[in-house]
Amino acid sequence: DARAVASTPPMGWNTWNTFGCDVNEDLIRQMADSLVDSGMTSAGYRYVVIDDCWFDPERDAQGNLRAAPDRFPHGIKALADYVHAKGLRLGIYQVPTEKTCAQRGGAYPGETGSRGHEVQDARTFASWGIDYLKYDWCSPEGSLEDQKAAFTTMRDALEATGRPIVYSINPNSYHDDKNGASYDWGHIADMWRTTEDIKPVWNTGHHNAYPMGVVNIVDINRHLADQAGPGHWNDPDMLEVGVYDVEGFKGLTDTEARAHFSLWAMMAAPLIAGNDVRAMPEKIRAILTNREVIAIDQDPLGIQGKPVRSKGGREVWVKPLSNGDRAVLLFNRTKSPKTISASLREAGMDDGTYRARNLWTREETSVSSTISADVPAHGVALFRVGPTE
Ligand code: DGJ
Repeated sequence: DARAVASTPPMGWNTWNTFGCDVNEDLIRQMADSLVDSGMTSAGYRYVVIDDCWFDPERDAQGNLRAAPDRFPHGIKALADYVHAKGLRLGIYQVPTEKTCAQRGGAYPGETGSRGHEVQDARTFASWGIDYLKYDWCSPEGSLEDQKAAFTTMRDALEATGRPIVYSINPNSYHDDKNGASYDWGHIADMWRTTEDIKPVWNTGHHNAYPMGVVNIVDINRHLADQAGPGHWNDPDMLEVGVYDVEGFKGLTDTEARAHFSLWAMMAAPLIAGNDVRAMPEKIRAILTNREVIAIDQDPLGIQGKPVRSKGGREVWVKPLSNGDRAVLLFNRTKSPKTISASLREAGMDDGTYRARNLWTREETSVSSTISADVPAHGVALFRVGPTE
């Protein structure tokens, strides 16, 4: 199912992590402008995704969805035209159930989910020029079979429009079974959430319950590597790089943010930023637009990297790359600095001398037998290892 729209993990920006329900067309236009002006777009971030709460609480007399007129006075089609003219693509949010998560939770009125309106809604999205649909379960009810049927119905409805639309699903919201972590959705969707929601925090101590921190998500998504590949990606949720002060969580340190971004790249995760790009400090821009790290994520082989060793909070992760190089991540989960070493053998390489490029410091060294670094607490050292010239 390696659809061309998701031959590498989709990259973009989404409203939810910083703005929640507070979405409007000015915000989307400003963010599109800033994505281009900041260099995010040329680094690969293409999809601008409007999450929950964009719609009017009532469908029209024909049952069509429409945007909330006060916040999107020009409508979604005009917004799509604006975004497309900038070389970007537009994404939108909907649910297979009766209520969106904000509607279920009582933060937003109405009952506008797609249940029973799938074909009509897919046509509406295609007619507006939508390029990406985030489709979020938002109900404690329904068996895995019910979820498969509902997610397939929308997949078919999208396909029938003839428009290439990235299909991003979340089987987990309000659902105790967390089917994103236990079922391989690769024949139905381009990407599927594997965990509960991420927040800007290192560790909440939760296994797969709201809210999740970076390492909690990693500890679920790491086991799902074998089901990922071109056109079908595990989605460990959106980026919290540069996101601060959400629901009492202060945000990641810069070291933690680099670790988060590096781990997502190693896991071939969709890279969907969620920070306020209009007011992005240079240090955050430098993380999100690190092209050599993005190249690890976007490598065309599409292999999800995994840990080859995990002991005492020191981990070694490896991701094979299309040109024969390997990405090697030294990950310090502990609260104090550690020296971490990996043998080239355990990284899957034959004996010999290699060039190792540190993708954050941009230093290059020649290595034989081991690769090693002093890694700060909650930090990583990320290397691209390949033959010497
Ligand atoms: C739950 C999802 O996991 C979030 O990413 C977000 O889409 C919210 N629903 C919106 O209500």
